[in-house]
Amino acid sequence: MLGVEPLITEDQIQKRIQELALTLNHKLSGVKKPLFVAVLKGAYPFFSDLIRSVNMDIECDFLALSSYKGKTVSSGEVRFLLDLTSPVKGRDIVLVEDIVDTGLTMNFLVAALRSKQPKSITTVSLLYKPKALKVPCEVDCIGFEIGNDFVVGYGLDYQENYRELPYIGVVRSMC
Ligand code: IMP
Ligand code: MG
Repeated sequence: MLGVEPLITEDQIQKRIQELALTLNHKLSGVKKPLFVAVLKGAYPFFSDLIRSVNMDIECDFLALSSYKGKTVSSGEVRFLLDLTSPVKGRDIVLVEDIVDTGLTMNFLVAALRSKQPKSITTVSLLYKPKALKVPCEVDCIGFEIGNDFVVGYGLDYQENYRELPYIGVVRSMC
């Protein structure tokens, strides 16, 4: 049987989002209508709270990727299941991820966005696992650095379970 051991409380998440929003307000001051992009499905609750905390006019768009996990982990090659519908060329993009683990997905996404010639890309990830990185991956705004444990909740899943939890926890075997 599996259980979830709390790691980051709902309160801690919400407080940190307010801080990230202030950082983004500052970083993007003077930018006209940045395009905030959520990486589905995991980043959706974080994205939803973050866009309601920043103090600026924005546009939103969404993308989804096929997971390479358990398949070609070494290449990190992924496919778009859902691509952006908004134009990217010449725009300021804020890419919002749930977690950076090996760094392969974030690097893939940044390269894919760069090829569309945006004016700037600001990367944001709620969680960052520095010890799990397989490739260098710098993220502009990080919510929390965590260890190598597999985490769930607040959008993150284990086999599509636990996304609805308002906190983040570590999946543990209870037997
Ligand atoms: P990366 O390409 O290894 O950095 O992983 C990116 C994706 O793997 C994330 O966007 C998540 O969807 C998933 N992932 C990585 N680590 C975890 C975890 O601890 N819990 C749930 N999903 C994870
Ligand atoms: Mg993700």
